[in-house]
Amino acid sequence: MPVADSTTTAQGDAAGFSRLITVDDPFPPAGTVASGYERQLCALLEAGNILFLPRSPIAIPAEDKELLLGRKQTSSAYHKNIAYRPAEDRVTGLDASEQKEALELRRLLSDYSRRASEFLDRFLTPYAGKWKLDYASFRPIEEKGRPARLHARNDLLHFDSFPTRPTNGARILRLFTNINPAQNRVWVTSQTFEAFGPRLARSAKLLEVGSNPMLRVVRSASRALRLPLKQRPPYDEIMHRCHNAMKEDAGFQANAQKNQWEFPPDSTWMVFTDCVSHSVLEGQYALEQTFLIPQNALVRAEVSPLAILERLAGNRLTV
Ligand code: SIN
Ligand code: FE
Repeated sequence: MPVADSTTTAQGDAAGFSRLITVDDPFPPAGTVASGYERQLCALLEAGNILFLPRSPIAIPAEDKELLLGRKQTSSAYHKNIAYRPAEDRVTGLDASEQKEALELRRLLSDYSRRASEFLDRFLTPYAGKWKLDYASFRPIEEKGRPARLHARNDLLHFDSFPTRPTNGARILRLFTNINPAQNRVWVTSQTFEAFGPRLARSAKLLEVGSNPMLRVVRSASRALRLPLKQRPPYDEIMHRCHNAMKEDAGFQANAQKNQWEFPPDSTWMVFTDCVSHSVLEGQYALEQTFLIPQNALVRAEVSPLAILERLAGNRLTV
């Protein structure tokens, strides 16, 4: 697929691997880009490329940044990132001793969330008004050497899947901003879901989840009776198993062909992390906003992980 326009440049050329598309000016003057430019940006993202904006379009006031950077690292590096749940206007992931910081963080993260949403609506117009706002996060912990359980390790390549918030086929679009004044955030990516997902799904026998007829009967009965669905939809179950299978595969982690990307201070990047195999190697202090993009808003639904898996499974994987 061609790069969106002359205002963008691409790095990383191997077929089936994520490329980095640099967008110097997210809002080029009228007449300087061809019509359909925004759709092309969406198409590049949906196919597993990274849109990189060297100058972050999300303004963060200097005093807010100071506050975030001045935050002491909490006692345990096992702590989760700090999450902001916009729908509840609530911050989670803080110690009991940090409650007085919670109010300030809530304001900061709610500002970031609002600005990220406004930016998304203007920048990727095909998604405007259709996305669902998921959590935002503040990532104050140095990623290099960060201890974590195997499945929670973000220094291992993986496709994202939310174990407790099934998307039922909606796509996971994440917008990151590196607010560290001096240190790059360093990522590694490998093959996209389109290139690698089918092999992974077959080898780990992941598709058996979607084709279990008993499970389907239970699910449609629960739906009819409006019972709470304990099980994840098959799509989310498969994506979650993909996530775990990749992290468990030491050979794959060591030997997969990789590209390394450096996101400098004050840059922003956007990624569909459900189709970009990614890991973070180093970096401290990033903000992030997650958006869920429904299937009917996608410009290339046929390359979504859901469409790829449903073609392989030969049946529907959503409920
Ligand atoms: C991840 O989604 O795996 C982590 C990315 C990051 O924190 O930079
Ligand atoms: Fe991830």
